[in-house]
Amino acid sequence: MRGVEIFDTTLRDGEQSPGVALNMEEKLQIARQLEKLGVDVIEAGFPITSPGDFQAVSLIAENVRQTTIAALARAEAKDIERAWEAIRQAANPRIHTFIATSPIHMQYKLRKSPEQVLEQAKFAVELAKSKVSDVEFSAEDASRSDVEFLGKIFSIAIQAGATVLNIPDTVGYAIPEEFALFVKAVMAQTKGIEKVKVSVHCHNDLGLAVANSLAAVRVGIHQVECAVNGLGERAGNAALEEIAMALHTRKDLYQAKTAIVTREISRTSSMVSRLTGMMIQHNKAIVGKNAFAHESGIHQDGVLKERSTYEIMSPNSIGLDMNTIVLGKHSGRHAVKRSIEELGILVSDTKFEKLFENFKILADKKKMITAADLFALADTQEIKEVLSLNYWQILSGNNLKPTATIGLWYKKGEHEDELVKAAYGDGPVAAAYKAIDKIIGVDGRLLNYSLQAIDSGEDSQGEVTVTVGFEKHIAAGRGISTDIIEASLKAYLQAVNRALDKGWISVKNREKVSVD
Ligand code: KIV
Ligand code: ZN
Repeated sequence: MRGVEIFDTTLRDGEQSPGVALNMEEKLQIARQLEKLGVDVIEAGFPITSPGDFQAVSLIAENVRQTTIAALARAEAKDIERAWEAIRQAANPRIHTFIATSPIHMQYKLRKSPEQVLEQAKFAVELAKSKVSDVEFSAEDASRSDVEFLGKIFSIAIQAGATVLNIPDTVGYAIPEEFALFVKAVMAQTKGIEKVKVSVHCHNDLGLAVANSLAAVRVGIHQVECAVNGLGERAGNAALEEIAMALHTRKDLYQAKTAIVTREISRTSSMVSRLTGMMIQHNKAIVGKNAFAHESGIHQDGVLKERSTYEIMSPNSIGLDMNTIVLGKHSGRHAVKRSIEELGILVSDTKFEKLFENFKILADKKKMITAADLFALADTQEIKEVLSLNYWQILSGNNLKPTATIGLWYKKGEHEDELVKAAYGDGPVAAAYKAIDKIIGVDGRLLNYSLQAIDSGEDSQGEVTVTVGFEKHIAAGRGISTDIIEASLKAYLQAVNRALDKGWISVKNREKVSVD
């Protein structure tokens, strides 16, 4: 059995998914969970792109010590310097530098000749190598590049000091059998290939990212780049959980293993979904709500007689059996703490106090608090709340215009104010969102709204996820409550607070307002 390394790019390529904008604490929380999941490399970000990205990468480099921390950089001096600055505190730093190699990209995007690209790649890898011993070089749009040219650029990269060579299918164009042969051919053309690790990075435009990555594993590559829940640019990257479980379930075929702790998969997937606001489709392989649900009578009967009739993996293997803990309003601090520890949730003492306070509020409204509730409470992020909900009143019915009155606290430094507005809309949620828009003085465009129960049972909490467009930016928000209107309001306010935190909008209508 040989080892295949898992390079996770949830925080870099995954964060490039439209609508995803994580703050620093959220990124750190995900990075810590990725470490528990057992990934070999965390690509923490692209430091040159913004001061926020730079700080998040530095924070992760300082705090996540078991895993290699990679930072992305174009093949340019300023990018590489910035990437190095961000990861220099890491226990195991890696600079990941890239340049496009396909004729289309070289001609139209870079406006450079192939010779210039070769030169720039050499320069970039040498510069990165002067800073750090672990250097990954990616040939962007490799799958549409010439095999001989790739062999040339990779040979140069090895000479310049690269330790990992990455073959991305940037636009998700490859087909598994063809991609496997392509990867093999590129490896054969590369001088010194035996000295480095070979990696693939596949996008999912044709729904083949996982299949292409696995096809490459079959021809001997050493690292797969992927993202939790398949997040990433456009249709996303290869889904980490699918790669890990395919290699685990079919080790007979692949003869390869990863270091992934599969029982952490479910937990990681829901954390990423919650914090990014990207819902998981119900029939998604491995982590979808229905992935282990048997509907047909024949299947149910078979599974009851012998699980393996219709199940190739057990729900336990991805950590789904942990949903058994039940607490209630009489559960004390000690019981809650123990359950949290049993679930492997790490919280600081101060965060636990806040969590316990929220637990008590929830337990007053809901008979049974399940593991799903505890995860949800623990994932609740302290996004800087410039605006928070004070009260809401909604009038709705089949015979009247839904009208909402919303009272928010506005807090900035020492300044605190109550802002109130009323509005009507097509439905109660639309009316409430309009009232919030009036308070901020900005028109938010609701791009996505989804509501789901966080576990089964009539008193389950509702979880609302929204993505909201503010001028040219998109922010996601999530809200949980036993009341779905309140969950909707919290979700919208979280998106607003995110946009305020990023400086995309400001509160324009700050005067104390009466209802109009
Ligand atoms: O898709 C891609 O080519 C990338 C590179 C930066 C590796 O994300
Ligand atoms: Zn990519």
